Amino acid sequence: MSEPKIVILDNATALCAHAAEEIAYFAGEAVCTHGEFTLCLSGGTTPAAIYEMLGSKFQFSIAWKEIQLFWGDERCVPPDDPASNFAMTQRTLLSKLTLEPSQVHRIPGEKTPDDAAHAYEDELRSHFGLGEGEFPRFDVMLLGLGENSHTASLFPGSAAIHENERIALAVDVDDPTQRHRVTITPPVINNAARIFFLASGASKAQAVWNILKGPRDVDKFPAQVVAPDNGEVIWLLDKAAASMIA
Ligand code: 6PG
Repeated sequence: MSEPKIVILDNATALCAHAAEEIAYFAGEAVCTHGEFTLCLSGGTTPAAIYEMLGSKFQFSIAWKEIQLFWGDERCVPPDDPASNFAMTQRTLLSKLTLEPSQVHRIPGEKTPDDAAHAYEDELRSHFGLGEGEFPRFDVMLLGLGENSHTASLFPGSAAIHENERIALAVDVDDPTQRHRVTITPPVINNAARIFFLASGASKAQAVWNILKGPRDVDKFPAQVVAPDNGEVIWLLDKAAASMIA
């Protein structure tokens, strides 16, 4: 894996604008080179402003009819639940676009966690035409970073951190508001062509240090597991989140 690239922006707004610009650029590159752009979205709150920008300022900069949207994780709740990552994306982005249902590959959080994980695996195998033991390769993947150094729904101490066969897994996480989730696994993350890690605010500074400068301990700092074999990692940080590394 090549060394991660670190981009430090003045503030959260500048971070989101930069991320939206990068997504628009790589969308154009992917559509030109292989006819579609597969984008794996992150949940949480950080990317919401990015999705808002993609659906407004960048709405006409992207060939949306060639876009395929996926999620890196989901809470096991209905798609209209306020805690749903799909619901957040629906509110901030999808509601402003006219994508075909076939372009939106949500994790069916309304199912039981195991059924949702298996259904999502089937969806990914079908879209990417995967054979046994193969993993999807996303053109761009967005990943957030939790204050406890988790990413997607790979939380400290989770066995999912060491999963190397499944594409998606049902997990129980140490988040009392949303214990039951579905997450993509490290081999999927590490097969991505380009990963943008998004972290803003002083509350993420320690986690950013843990991942980029801390001792190697993926069980304690799960986001350290992100090391694509043939892909690029770009950290998009605001000054507050980068305050312990720069
Ligand atoms: C989720 C996310 C999760 C998120 C981090 C950071 O479902 O919550 O996928 O991994 O990216 O927890 O969340 P914030 O952006 O809200 O700080």
